[in-house]
Amino acid sequence: MTAHDILSFLISGEWISGEEMAKKLAISRAAVWKQIQVLRQRGYEISASTGKGYRLAKKPDLLDADRIFGCLKTKWLGRDMRISAQVSSTNAVALSLARDCQSGTVILAETQTQGKGRLSRPWVSPPGGIWMSIILKPKMPLTHVYQINMAVAVALCRALSSILGLEAGIKWPNDLLIRELKICGILMEVGAQVDLLDYAVVGLGLNVNNDPSSLPAEWRLTSLAAELGHDIDRCDLIARILEEIEVAYENMGSKEIYEEWRSRSLTLNRQVLITSVAGDKVGEAVDLAEDGALLLRTGDELKRVLAGDCIHLRPLEASCERRDEQKASYEPRA
Ligand code: BTN
Repeated sequence: MTAHDILSFLISGEWISGEEMAKKLAISRAAVWKQIQVLRQRGYEISASTGKGYRLAKKPDLLDADRIFGCLKTKWLGRDMRISAQVSSTNAVALSLARDCQSGTVILAETQTQGKGRLSRPWVSPPGGIWMSIILKPKMPLTHVYQINMAVAVALCRALSSILGLEAGIKWPNDLLIRELKICGILMEVGAQVDLLDYAVVGLGLNVNNDPSSLPAEWRLTSLAAELGHDIDRCDLIARILEEIEVAYENMGSKEIYEEWRSRSLTLNRQVLITSVAGDKVGEAVDLAEDGALLLRTGDELKRVLAGDCIHLRPLEASCERRDEQKASYEPRA
């Protein structure tokens, strides 16, 4: 018997007597009281009244393994879950553990002190967000890792749509936007032999109850709470996200995932600025290939772009002819 068993009686918010819980769990009332204290120490506000028993007055907005497991329906994803109050970066922790733990292990933290974004950018990770890394060990050539990204991005969109009714789109390669504002970033890091994947660490930074207005406006961020006007139960959301990721991952590489990833694209048919190690390119994103490449039309040329950073441009800016004029006048949209 754990505190979670007691929590499952209280979660409805109704009064329930210590005696009833003790009877149902075949334990003493003193044991019930002990677990009530454990929950209070974890931040649960529990009212007590003679005659009525106990009632959950307020759930804390804290990551709680018991609460996540209480609603998690996955077969293997998240069955090993490690939650910390603070880490440098959940991706860094996952990378350090990856060789010695099973595929599907999940690392979560309330805050990160050195959260990593793509292209070595910092990722600000205050309390209230979901900062999560998943260790995955599919048997696949290194060249196929884009399939993991696609599956995870699609799964996240499905989760936000089905649980919260929010439709997110995908900015190539894998940012999730709502109303052109970034709600989620994905950072995948891998360990591999020459061309065979050993493990992938998929890091998700999802703005949930954290306040995006405390961050620079030019980052153009939003959060689920800002979109919905109320806080979200992160434990429930994590469970549902993991369920969607498990389903999409098991279907990874399929036409269905590719087509959904493509149809959710906000980049397709847009004028974009692509920055990559190969330099900057402005053009029209005319297609997205099955291997995740962006097909960019620049003048008469069609280029395949496999990696890089993408900025959605206003049509006027992209039609500027001189390269330096474009650079001077573009304004990131997201
Ligand atoms: C991006 O630049 O859009 C990717 C951001 C990824 C952030 C997440 S938060 C959890 C995980 N740990 C990290 O250090 N980064 C990823």
